[in-house]
Amino acid sequence: PSLKDVFEDDFMLGSAFLVSEIADPNGPDAKLLKKHFNSLTAGNELKWDATEPQEGTFDFTRADQAFRFAVDHGMAFRGHTLVWHSQTPDWVFRGADGNLASKEVLLQRMKRHIDTVVGRYKGRIYAWDVVNEVIDPSQPQGLRNSLWYQIAGEEYIEKAFEYAHAADPSAKLFINDYNTHDPVKRQYLYDLIKRLKEKGIPVDGVGHQMHNSIQSPSPQQIDATIGAFRDLGIEQQITELDMSSYTNDTDSWETFPVDLQIRQAYQYKDTFDVFKKHKDQITAVIFWGKDDGNTWLRTFPTVRKNWPLLFDENLQAKYAYWALVDPG
Ligand code: XIL
Repeated sequence: PSLKDVFEDDFMLGSAFLVSEIADPNGPDAKLLKKHFNSLTAGNELKWDATEPQEGTFDFTRADQAFRFAVDHGMAFRGHTLVWHSQTPDWVFRGADGNLASKEVLLQRMKRHIDTVVGRYKGRIYAWDVVNEVIDPSQPQGLRNSLWYQIAGEEYIEKAFEYAHAADPSAKLFINDYNTHDPVKRQYLYDLIKRLKEKGIPVDGVGHQMHNSIQSPSPQQIDATIGAFRDLGIEQQITELDMSSYTNDTDSWETFPVDLQIRQAYQYKDTFDVFKKHKDQITAVIFWGKDDGNTWLRTFPTVRKNWPLLFDENLQAKYAYWALVDPG
């Protein structure tokens, strides 16, 4: 069965992918994407370093390839991401002398970038991760001490949403982050969204990345996480779901033990049961990749085998897939 059909009454079902996976639009990777998903996210192709590598020089070659694949096959497309501390060229933050740019210059660059990128796909990208990973619970205000923040303070977040809304009033605008099950981090995120909403900043949703492991977060923690944002009156999406086989950064195995394959399957099932419980809030659940051969977790945090997704290296369905499609 097709995953998107199994969950059609609940939420959109999505996957991230790279243009390298769709080089052959009728190949096995492309077929798997078309069969199971109705929302796609480009894994890297819309990030700043890809779309505007030099100031004012835009390159949409790969972004357009990714976008076209989705729309040509009737799938919705999510934009990821506009303002982030990572995969953003250093020139964005620098003056000609190499020192940090002024706030005015930084916000001008941000505006041109957002106008150009969001404007290009106006009305056709249904949701944008406007800001990514801006919360850092170890900081006094809970805001990441990125160059964005050092130069422009919290205002850069407000401006990013205003510029994005002006460039495409129909797109749903998201604030996206990881580890939202951490109660301290979650509270900072909640408070930030509340402040933005009170100021009339157009925030439509919160994106929970959910780079989970087979042990954490628990279904109870996920339930509490989704529940915590209920009263903000915004959409919620699971934007980057995967489930590492490891519970630490140092283990490294050559094969995935069968008992853990089964544990992963149950963990996925229990996790989706929580998503379904909150289906009035959750509008999309998106995996960060489709198969274990192409997962980013084979390079991060270290190079090692990992088996975080529903399909194996040969695109065969794993126990985790069957746990989601088999209601029994
Ligand atoms: C990852 C990509 O999957 C990798 O290919 C790239 O090398 C690094 O970025 N959180 C995010 C995503 O918001 O953009 C990241 O994607 C994974 C973590």
